[in-house]
Amino acid sequence: MSVATGNIVIKKVSKSRISEIDFSNLAFGQQFSDHMFVCDYKDGKWQQSQVIPFQNISLSPSSKIFHYGQSIFEGMKAYKNENGETLLFRPLENQKRLNISAKRLAIPEFPEESFMEGLEALLKIDKDWIPTTEGSSLYIRPFMLATGNGFHASPSDEYKFVIATSPSGAYFGGEIKVLIEEKYSRSANGGVGFAKAGGNYAGQFYPTQLAKEKGYQQVIWTDDNTHEYIEEAGAMNIFVRIGDTLLTGPTSDRILDGITRKSIITIAEDEGIKVEVRKIKVSELIEASKKGELKEMFGAGTAAVISPIAGFGHRGEDYDLPEMENSYASRLKKRITDIQYGKTEDKFGWRYPVK
Ligand code: PLP
Ligand code: COI
Repeated sequence: MSVATGNIVIKKVSKSRISEIDFSNLAFGQQFSDHMFVCDYKDGKWQQSQVIPFQNISLSPSSKIFHYGQSIFEGMKAYKNENGETLLFRPLENQKRLNISAKRLAIPEFPEESFMEGLEALLKIDKDWIPTTEGSSLYIRPFMLATGNGFHASPSDEYKFVIATSPSGAYFGGEIKVLIEEKYSRSANGGVGFAKAGGNYAGQFYPTQLAKEKGYQQVIWTDDNTHEYIEEAGAMNIFVRIGDTLLTGPTSDRILDGITRKSIITIAEDEGIKVEVRKIKVSELIEASKKGELKEMFGAGTAAVISPIAGFGHRGEDYDLPEMENSYASRLKKRITDIQYGKTEDKFGWRYPVK
């Protein structure tokens, strides 16, 4: 049966799959909730918004997504507080960034109101899928793909926008050692590095596989021109603590403007930590490490939250980071997750309750 709620047509599953999920043992992004939000673009406009049972998407082999990779995505999370209310964290930032990515990939933008209305309708229907176990949340994956047909290398005339969700645990298991990459580049000036384009991730897999073979879990990308400055990791922005100063690189054409990154800068400053947003040379990290001044490195992102880095490799040498008591990473992680899970006051107005 389908019903209309506001501007959305809703078709519910006849039987929920929720009893199949072991909420005490969740992997990241492996299981999917009962419903998904969908809206198609054709005849020059976005059509009827729908929430429908989670299901396969059927496409012609000539769909442009298969040939020219016109696809973008976002990553967000829904949390449940102690009263069972659903909370989002700065969702309008994701909505805006989706459209920044859309524009760069010549995909039509999706209206803010329809995005929020669709997301909230989906979260209300699937609210029981939001885990409450420590460190878990409902990972939300909004994405758009080119569904129009033809082998001509030009933008599609049809698209699909989907929001799917996955009850998820931690993104990384165990400690992270990173390799500072000097041969391959993730992005270049004038390119699409700042967008969440699917192809940005595909291009990282091979160099990351090579790093894994050498015993590292992630690559830290350096600038494509000189390879002298660290930029970001595959799915996280990077922070470095030298002495008591917290450093992170500036955003650019090549780097994703992370929502966790900008929140961490604000929280760190609020904690009285000195923060510098500036270019960070690999040689500065190595010198600081040799002098014992490189105290911490961590990645920051929605999926990764704050993930401490245990050490890095560069030109065949390994540099280990010390184990810190009361580290910036643990302090900042507690502050941001307490806001996200509704355990503390929302000083910056970042929480968005789904009512
Ligand atoms: N950098 C890249 C390449 C990412 O994929 C992500 C994840 O979204 C981030 C950084 C962190 O961004 P955010 O904090 O908005 O999730
Ligand atoms: C996120 O952190 O939400 C991302 O989109 C990163 C993704 C590659 C897991």
